[in-house]
Amino acid sequence: MICRWQSLIFNILIFNAFLLTKIQSGSHDTFKKPETSDCGCSAANRQTTTKAKADSDSKNPEVLKSINSKNIKLYDEMVPVEGGIYGIGSYKPIIPADGEGPARKVKLARFWLDVHEVSNLQFSEFVQQTGYVTEAERFGNSYVIETFISEEVKSSINQAVAAAPWWLPVNGADWMHPTGPDSNITHLMDHPVVHVSWNDATAFCKWKSKRLPREAEWESACRNNKQDRLFPWGNLEKPKDHHYMNIWHGSFPTENTKDDGYASTCPVWSYPNQTTHGLKNMIGNVWEWVADWWQANHHHHQDHHPDRHQEELPVNPAGPPGGSDKVKKGGSFMCTKQHCYRYRCGARSSNTPDSSAYNLGFRCARDDDDDSNDNDSNDNDDVEDIHNSENTEDVVVNNAYKDEI
Ligand SMILES: *[C@@H]1O[C@H](CO)[C@@H](O)[C@H](O)[C@H]1NC(C)=O
Ligand SMILES: *[C@@H]1O[C@H](CO)[C@@H](O)[C@H](O)[C@H]1NC(C)=O
Ligand SMILES: *[C@@H]1O[C@H](CO)[C@@H](O)[C@H](O)[C@H]1NC(C)=O
Repeated sequence: MICRWQSLIFNILIFNAFLLTKIQSGSHDTFKKPETSDCGCSAANRQTTTKAKADSDSKNPEVLKSINSKNIKLYDEMVPVEGGIYGIGSYKPIIPADGEGPARKVKLARFWLDVHEVSNLQFSEFVQQTGYVTEAERFGNSYVIETFISEEVKSSINQAVAAAPWWLPVNGADWMHPTGPDSNITHLMDHPVVHVSWNDATAFCKWKSKRLPREAEWESACRNNKQDRLFPWGNLEKPKDHHYMNIWHGSFPTENTKDDGYASTCPVWSYPNQTTHGLKNMIGNVWEWVADWWQANHHHHQDHHPDRHQEELPVNPAGPPGGSDKVKKGGSFMCTKQHCYRYRCGARSSNTPDSSAYNLGFRCARDDDDDSNDNDSNDNDDVEDIHNSENTEDVVVNNAYKDEI
């Protein structure tokens, strides 16, 4: 198991005394049961806390007023991901309990994916034009990792998540106040929007005439036509000594060395392209909601039989028909190899669709407009190309990346 219970217990022990007292006096039944190998990735969940209804109104656009004057790019470009046969899931799952395996093939139609995670500026535009109120604003709280919360705000918090004590539900934390009511996004307009639920993300994409990517689409794009590698560029965490992603450096959660340049979120344009399509920050920065319902066990899905003939492969699979949680992908700035090794294309986690957190955002996808014009011979060509390339070990971003593992 990647999750280290010893360190978890240690964290709980050192967790500051007043808080512990309050946790113990709090109502235990609001805590989510710790799950094996969960590491708290999906612990920042609405089921773990009582609902604190917001005094709705005036959570408000003081932030939005200053936005129009800012000359920041919107970062809403999309790139096409070609149709074809892709491998998803892993032959060698690192966290099997999450359903990283088994490896299986899917057939995807060409689709488009946002190059960047949706930024605060983009989300502001949405809110300004639609008056949309996020679920975190309506609930009146959202989850923030303890390290970033001011002492003043921290002192008013009387519950935590048993399985992941670094997560605190902060009243007044929302997309405009990412680390609590005394924070703002004035200088974060090109950072990913956070504290957005799956429902919020879906509403945004719909407004853009887009949709959330399906997990198979997201993972196929992330895997960058490479066979079962950890990262879009291969297996090296830091190829040629360059950072390609925003994760946690140092001993989580007490030490944050910012070795990659950022303590928490980074601008959506940061780091080199992660894939040949030009996608940025698929891995790291913030977790990204995808469309699918969560299920850790794929074996029951007929769709996913690994030995299927090409013509029988599931086309644009959309995941289980229902469930209680939605899938999120890509890991976040809170991930370390020791604590939560989920900044990998094949890794996955989940939250309820109304949950939100400081390290959870999204990007949108859309169908290819030209789909209707495609003809059979075209489709087959795509399929054939991709299929052949699967047998080639490294269809690589850059030949200089030498895989480590
Ligand atoms: C926003 O937060 C920054 C610190 O991050 C602070 O310097 C600034 O005064 C705040 N702005 C507003 C309008 O509250
Ligand atoms: C990165 O991707 C973008 C498309 O998103 C592309 O225009 C650009 O040329 C790529 N940069 C490099 C260095 O490959
Ligand atoms: C089908 O695709 C091929 C290859 O791109 C093209 O030459 C042909 O004209 C297309 N046929 C139709 C009916 O669109």
